[in-house]
Amino acid sequence: MKRIAVYPGSFDPVTVGHLDVIRRASKLFDELIVLVSKNIMKSNESFTPQERVSMITRVTTDLPNVRVDLSGGLLVDYVRDVHAIAIVKGLRAVSDFEYEFQMALLNKALNPEYETMFMMTNTKYSYISSSMVKELAGFHGDLTGLVPCEIIETIEEKYK
Ligand code: PNS
Repeated sequence: MKRIAVYPGSFDPVTVGHLDVIRRASKLFDELIVLVSKNIMKSNESFTPQERVSMITRVTTDLPNVRVDLSGGLLVDYVRDVHAIAIVKGLRAVSDFEYEFQMALLNKALNPEYETMFMMTNTKYSYISSSMVKELAGFHGDLTGLVPCEIIETIEEKYK
């Protein structure tokens, strides 16, 4: 049986920190699905879900067991539908922990069949977030090193 994992997130936009988690997690499973999902707590979205899928697809072309998908529904339902065995989440700092812990327990209560697996961020990316990228882009700052170089132009274009 194929061991499938789902890495969900807003990815608005995908950062080098996300890409690092994607690369590392893709080595642990037969297939990794990067899932652009709806976070109802985040109302300041800059990119459409399709634009986010497109950006992640462009930066993961060298990873044959990674595919990108989109879901507007509950994560547990998606995980069940694709027969995944795990959810992968990245942790940057202690401040991420409480929310992620609560979410993992809620998802476990909704569907006890699968595990949530946390990957610590690479320390050199621990300060990077999509919100910081958007803030910097809004001031036309240099995004080099914060997001994969293939998508810098796309992001700059949005903030022109
Ligand atoms: O990158 P984010 O914004 O921290 O990712 C959060 C995300 C999108 C993974 C989370 O909000 C999510 O799982 N959304 C899908 C809907 C869902 O299942 N919510 C949790 C139970 S209410």
